[in-house]
Amino acid sequence: MNKLVHEDIQSIIRSIRTEAKTFEGKTILISGGCGFLGSYFVATFLELNKKVLKKPCKVIVMDNYITSAEENSIIDNTDPHFTLMTHDVRNQLPHKLKADYLIHAAGLASPFYYRKFPLETIEVAVNGTKNFLEFAKSKKVKSMLYFSSSEVYGDPNPNYIPTPEGYWGNVSAVGPRACYDESKRLGETLCMTYHQLYRIPVKIVRPFNVYGPGMKVHDYRVIPTFMVKALKGEALPVHDKGNQTRTFCYITDAIQGFLKVLASEKNGEIYNVGRPNEEINMVSLGNLVSSLVTQKPTVELIAYPASYPAGEPQRRCPDITKIQKELGFKPSVNLKTGLTRTLTWYRSILKTEPAHNEPTTA
Ligand SMILES: NC(=O)c1ccc[n+]([C@@H]2O[C@H](COP(=O)([O-])OP(=O)(O)OC[C@H]3O[C@@H](n4cnc5c(N)ncnc54)[C@H](O)[C@@H]3O)[C@@H](O)[C@H]2O)c1
Repeated sequence: MNKLVHEDIQSIIRSIRTEAKTFEGKTILISGGCGFLGSYFVATFLELNKKVLKKPCKVIVMDNYITSAEENSIIDNTDPHFTLMTHDVRNQLPHKLKADYLIHAAGLASPFYYRKFPLETIEVAVNGTKNFLEFAKSKKVKSMLYFSSSEVYGDPNPNYIPTPEGYWGNVSAVGPRACYDESKRLGETLCMTYHQLYRIPVKIVRPFNVYGPGMKVHDYRVIPTFMVKALKGEALPVHDKGNQTRTFCYITDAIQGFLKVLASEKNGEIYNVGRPNEEINMVSLGNLVSSLVTQKPTVELIAYPASYPAGEPQRRCPDITKIQKELGFKPSVNLKTGLTRTLTWYRSILKTEPAHNEPTTA
């Protein structure tokens, strides 16, 4: 494993000391486990086996590789406690499978890909979630984590920024981003319905722009796009006027939050996971990334490309009071540190990662 990723995993393990024992001897099933967040989950559980757990946990990953690949530099797929299953979660889960903890992270997370695959995006969030809930019901699992998104808030009313979990959202049912936003919302509805009808121990997380090592070179979310272009000395493209803001959460902080939620005994709950500090607009983010590389590329304002879904939220910033108070979540990595670590990782892999799913319309 890459040294920097190894340090990240150690940092995650330190931050979940109390929760780690929950997973002793258990089986954890992760959908979308070859993706960015999924692969960090896998690496964390396998490292817990080596450092913390007396009885190792087993990790099963399900993926159809629509935006990833079987080979993944973060996952040691020779580990005896790891199993990789090629499975599209839009189809029922194999009945013979057993698991104690479910992490349903499969999804089309990048706007470029959900524009390209709108039906797959809807189906993984709706049919995929229903299949996981049915599995949770028949196997009586201990806990299930559903990956929703901060996109369920749409373009929030400025009075609701930072946005708390209780905000209902300002989302178009038919807009260019609806395949993602609305299907994630329906996924949440399914989770709550199964929780109410069958007491399924499900929890919902709404991540706010998680980033870090492990995001694919061809991911097309803003940070991978800036990093890859910056390292090649190319201009950093910013859509429209670049006033839209985001807050970014480094992967170690995010995984800490997700695992605290998964291990919690509070079911039928929703938690924002993010870092409200350092809300930044896209021009400033571009300038910050540029300042971290020797090439010092310029930031270039461009019109929304056809490959990118219009109608993006103007501001996005989480209120994390609930997860802080209830579960002791403490994000600690500031933006400059996180970006520097991510850049270091991209430098190390850029020459080796093969091109994958090149955009056709960007
Ligand atoms: N990273 C973030 O900042 C963020 C923010 C909000 C929500 N999320 C949600 O968190 C989850 C994980 O995000 P990520 O950043 O790791 O995304 P990612 O694109 O890196 O990984 C998603 C994985 O899901 C797999 N997948 C997609 N459809 C599938 C299907 N039908 N069956 C099996 N596997 C399938 C992909 O091949 C990929 O490996 C997603 O559901 C995403 O919508 C992430």
